[in-house]
Parts: sequence; C-alpha cells; structure tokens
Amino acid sequence: MTIATKEILALNRFDASQTNDFSPELAERIARRSAAFGASSVLFYQQPIEMVRAKGAFMYDAQGQRYLDVYNNVPSVGHCHPRVVEAIARQAGTLNIHTRYLASVVEAYAERLLATFPGQLSNVVFTCTGSESNDLAMRIAQIGTGAKGFIVTETAYHGNTALVTEISPSSLRRRKPAPYVRVVPAPSADANVGERFAAAVKVAIAELQAEGFGVAALVADSIFSSDGIYADPPGFLKPAVDAVRQSGGLFIADEVQPGFGRTGGMWGFLRHGIEPDLVTMGKPMGNGFPMGGIVTRPELLAAFCEETGYFNTFGGNPVAAAAGLAVLDVIRDEELLDNAREVGDYFREGLKELSLAHASIGAVRGAGLFIGLDFIVPDERTPGTSLASHVINRMKENGILIGAAGKYGATLKIRPPLCFSRQDAGYFMATLADILKGG
Ligand SMILES: Cc1ncc(COP(=O)(O)O)c(C=O)c1O
Repeated sequence: MTIATKEILALNRFDASQTNDFSPELAERIARRSAAFGASSVLFYQQPIEMVRAKGAFMYDAQGQRYLDVYNNVPSVGHCHPRVVEAIARQAGTLNIHTRYLASVVEAYAERLLATFPGQLSNVVFTCTGSESNDLAMRIAQIGTGAKGFIVTETAYHGNTALVTEISPSSLRRRKPAPYVRVVPAPSADANVGERFAAAVKVAIAELQAEGFGVAALVADSIFSSDGIYADPPGFLKPAVDAVRQSGGLFIADEVQPGFGRTGGMWGFLRHGIEPDLVTMGKPMGNGFPMGGIVTRPELLAAFCEETGYFNTFGGNPVAAAAGLAVLDVIRDEELLDNAREVGDYFREGLKELSLAHASIGAVRGAGLFIGLDFIVPDERTPGTSLASHVINRMKENGILIGAAGKYGATLKIRPPLCFSRQDAGYFMATLADILKGG
C-alpha cells in the first residue's frame, strides 16, 4: 500500500475550495487577503483566526478568545516578554544603524552569544533569518572544502533561498533536489538508529564522491523537527558526522529549531556530543525580532571572506543585538533551560501514560519542550494522518494551537514557549484525552 506523504507547508492549511460557513465579514477578509497575496498566501485552519495580542504562552483573537500556544517556537521566552519589548524599544529610541560602526551593544551581544558555544566555535556572523544563515553556512562549507555536495534528511526544511530550497526536500513539489544533494531517510526511533543513520549517510557520501561532487556538508537539525522529531538516544548523530568528516566534509548544525534552550540545553547538538563546524540560528534568537546568525571556526570564515565579500545591512543591528541580549538574560534569570527539562519530562511522561489508554497513539518522543506524538491507525499500524488533522482542529475549538510534522503529517509537533508550565501541560493532556474519547 502506498501512503500519501504531506508537504510541511500544506499541513493544517486553509483550503478555499472546501465548503465553509463563514460570516460575510470573515469571507471578505479572506478574499482581500488572497487578492493581495495571491498563490503565496497560506493561512492555518479551515476557519482562519485573526490574532490581536499575546502574552506568555497565550494568544488572543479578535473576539477575545484565549489560545494556549503549543506551536510557536519564535516567541520562545514568552510572547511579548516585557524585558525583550523594553530592550527593543529603548535601543530603537537610541540608535539603530548598520554594522559598519563600533556599537557596544553589538559587540557585547556577540561575546555573550559566543560564550555559550564550545571549543573552537569562536566567530559569529549575524543575519536576519534562518534561511540566510543556512545559505551562508552552505557557501562557507563549499569554499572551505572545495566540494559541492550536501546530505540532508528526506522531510527536512532548512529555509527559502534558492540554495537552501535545494536542501529542503519538503518544499519541492514537482521535482527532486539538485543532483549535488543526497537525501537520506529520517532517523528512526529504533535502538540501532545511530548505525542505520550513519549507514545511509555513508551511501550518500559514496554517491556524491562517485559523481564528482564530493561532500561539502551534512546539514541536520538535531531534533529533526519537520522529519517528525527524533531526539534519542543522545549521541546517535555522531557516527554519521564522523563518516562525513572522514570524507572531507563538514557538519552544519541547523539550530533554528532546537537552539536557545528548546531541548533543555542551550544547543541541540550538545546532546549528541559533537562540535559542529558551523551552527546556524534564527527563530527564537530575538523572541520575534527578526534575527539570525552563524557561528563557526575562524579559519573557515577567513577562507570564505578571501573569496567573497559578505555584507548584511540589517544583520546584527543594535536593536537586534539588544533583543538578543534580553533573550539571553531571560533564559538565564527565569531558568528556562531547567523549565524546558522539567516541564518537558513531566509532559512526555504524561503523554506516554495517555498512550497506554489509546491505541491510536503510536509513540511519544522528544527532548525538553519539543515533543513528537505519532498517531496511527491501530489495526493497520499505518500513519494516523486524518486523526492528527481532526485533533489539531478540535484542539483549536478548545483553545489550544498545535501543528503536525513528519512525512505523513501524522505526528503532533508539541513545541510551546519555554515558559510553559505543568498546569499548561495538564490542560493540553486533559483536552487531548477528551478528544480521543470522542469529546
Ligand atoms: C530547521 C529550520 N531551519 C531553517 C528555517 C528557516 O528559517 P527562516 O524562516 O527564519 O528563514 C526553518 C524555518 O521554519 C527551520 O525550521
């Protein structure tokens, strides 16, 4: 039996061709939106929501309905955190320029951020998005190795530039990635995952070498967000990274999702006992202020800069640096790494208990506050894609925002702000239990 795969951006997407019972006001808003944005417009839910404000782990719509945010990895220290908002406003009212002047807030941020990295990862370049960060990292890897090829997982998403789209198989609707990109299956949840993943990477290395591309880098998000969330056992990535390095290639850790505390440690790659050659960052870095960056070894950056100039007008501007500093302060002062670990463990254990009572829950896995919950069709043991979609929509009716991931869109992607409490997790689990009982 062939099971239909799902494109990550298509999951839980509003579909205008389906029947609906919108109020005339909502119908008009949607029509205006699609007239302005055309084919690129993507809205969540069959009954789209207009959000008007947010605080902590909650968002509020235009009708005053409150939603618990279990989806959003961007405002990761909490929506509209007062310390981040104040830092942005203060700096915007003082000085905001590009990066070719000395500015103490920018230098202070670079040093604070670099202090969170191990070993030789001692240079940073600031960008504005995760996509720009991955694009730059890929170019540094190609110049540093003299090779062209990349290895990525089959449902990966790494961003939206021309180069990065080639290593984002989940974005490609009509074709496969470019010939210099090799796609390997997502890590599985079985005991031999490290060996199996490394074996697939070794095949990809051999193919890239045989075709003359060589290996520039393995690019992986260490929590495998869009592949369906694979975190365990810690260290399973190491054999694959070792194999890539033996072939002359580098390891680019895409920390856009697992970075800044999500997995209970500052960086997701730390769980795997590896020091990447390049680390890319984005989303949670400014808690909603658009900022990204890469961290690497000085010699790799120097080799790149000898070949190519790199200037990013907005990357690392003083307002971004002020936002970034405030995020680091909040992570430290509110002990959010501990919270991600403690609430994450409690949440995962509770969901595992729930799975004992519901055969439609196939597995629960993850690290910190990034949890994947697989739905299955119990008798067939096939992915429960339609149940995932039903749960997402019923959750919304109960005031909870949640999304899906994985090749078949059958994995609930549980990824709340890091200020999420046990009480929030309890509300989520009670609501999920009700929905699965048919409520
Ligand atoms: C793992 C990963 N890398 C990179 C990106 C791209 O980041 P941005 O949308 O900021 O360009 C994303 C975005 O979803 C992502 O999930």
